[in-house]
Amino acid sequence: MANQDDQFKKVVSHAKEYGFVFQSSEIYDGLSAVYDYAQNGVELKKNIREYWWKAMVQMHENIVGLDAAIFMHPTTWKASGHVDAFNDPLIDNKDSKKRYRADVLIEDYVAKLDDKIEKEVEKAAKRFGDTFDKEQFLATNERVLGYKTKGEAILKRMGKSLGEENLADVKALIEELEIVCPLSGSKNWTEVKQFNLMFGTKIGASADASMDLYLRPETAQGIFVNFSNVQKSGRMKIPFGIAQTGKAFRNEIVARQFIFRMREFEQMEMQFFVRPGTQKEWYEEWKQARLKWHLSLGLGKENYRFHDHDKLAHYADAAADIEFKFPFGFKELEGIHSRTDFDLSSHEKFSGKKLQYFDPELNEHYVPYVVETSVGLDRMFLAVFSNSLQEEELENGTTRTVLRLPAVLAPTKAAILPLVKKDGLPEIASKIMDDLKWDFSVDYDEKDAVGRRYRRQDAVGTPFCITVDHETLENDTVTIRYRDTMAQNRVKISELRDIIKEEVDVKKWLMKM
Ligand code: GAP
Repeated sequence: MANQDDQFKKVVSHAKEYGFVFQSSEIYDGLSAVYDYAQNGVELKKNIREYWWKAMVQMHENIVGLDAAIFMHPTTWKASGHVDAFNDPLIDNKDSKKRYRADVLIEDYVAKLDDKIEKEVEKAAKRFGDTFDKEQFLATNERVLGYKTKGEAILKRMGKSLGEENLADVKALIEELEIVCPLSGSKNWTEVKQFNLMFGTKIGASADASMDLYLRPETAQGIFVNFSNVQKSGRMKIPFGIAQTGKAFRNEIVARQFIFRMREFEQMEMQFFVRPGTQKEWYEEWKQARLKWHLSLGLGKENYRFHDHDKLAHYADAAADIEFKFPFGFKELEGIHSRTDFDLSSHEKFSGKKLQYFDPELNEHYVPYVVETSVGLDRMFLAVFSNSLQEEELENGTTRTVLRLPAVLAPTKAAILPLVKKDGLPEIASKIMDDLKWDFSVDYDEKDAVGRRYRRQDAVGTPFCITVDHETLENDTVTIRYRDTMAQNRVKISELRDIIKEEVDVKKWLMKM
């Protein structure tokens, strides 16, 4: 655990030190769970967004984009169920006066059981050496099976109680498990009560003419209310999808773990409209498609897993998370939800407008069913960033910090470095930069010894360093240094564009899907 904490602390401090993520309004001591993306962070975030957009919109003839407003008519949130049901179950500890999400306290308890399973596996792996069969051990070891059954039973009971709004049983479960407040160590809990997560605001200048609004807690509703507009104006035929990226806001109670759980964050969502009765097939299809998209980035297959929901949201008939192994353990990265016809039907009811599709093949009108894919951009950022941050022992005994970002996502693709600040080398380096910047985001650095400049670029994840030296003056060649291997090759200036393109080409990365 200490190691996980240390690694996570390194992630947070590296993000700050190298201009990726800052606490919002830091000069005023910051605002909790709100963050700003700095010069490198904004590029990484943009590249992740584009990688998603290309895969989802550009590569699908039947998916189109949308950019709906953050402000929406307040009835939207009544229809969507958010006014009545977008709640978190909260519990206060009477001694520390600290407020917790009751479900998170229980999930943390179960996560500890998972840690115990991992420890058993580690111990057994050491004991049995090469003959160790992990699958078999997990399936047969009594202690492991005990932890597993216990964890599953707890989550099942919690899911049932929350689904039935039986908050007394959620409290009873916390008491039975003897969960203590991490701060006071006491079991002196209040009752569990529901708390709505939406932020309210007002539109209009005068107090009497103003209207109460909410900041959207998900981007999806902007898609639902535009269903007919897009379907008709785009002459879309079912099955088809509408995708959008944008800000969402939630008054999260357990706002912790850096950009994992924020109060203002960005989502990348796609609603796929299908014929009723076919939703299960599409749900399975999108689960696999989205996992493949994640795997294409090469962060390691072992770092992803599906988690099927026991407790379904009010709108879903099936739901799963793609979980990622963050520095603090496996947690939700993306949700895939089979949302039935709940949203469109409900908007029909509340607006009095038809939100139906005429299916020419069936010769009938119906309200389409929806399969949704929803991934947090900030969570993607954290997944990519934390996985990429590595410390490496070098042969000469020193260590280097290297951010092995997938090259396609790197904020800067190449840094151009004149070996010295004289003899015409800076001029050639500037010329190379001016040429390459039409195609790639590039950086120029002439300060300090070249070794230190390499390290700075390693730390921000730049895949290539191009060094202009005295030989360049003679034969128009430069050295190109590869971030991951630190290998250096001598190449012609005229070859640089193709070499870089080969590594950062979106097509090449997405083709791995
Ligand atoms: N439209 C469906 C929806 O919003 P969700 O599971 O509540 O579903 C989808 O959210 C994704 O949005 C999550 O998988 C996560 O990546 C991201 N997300 C949700 N709440 C977040 C928060 N407070 N901070 C950062 N990302 C968040």
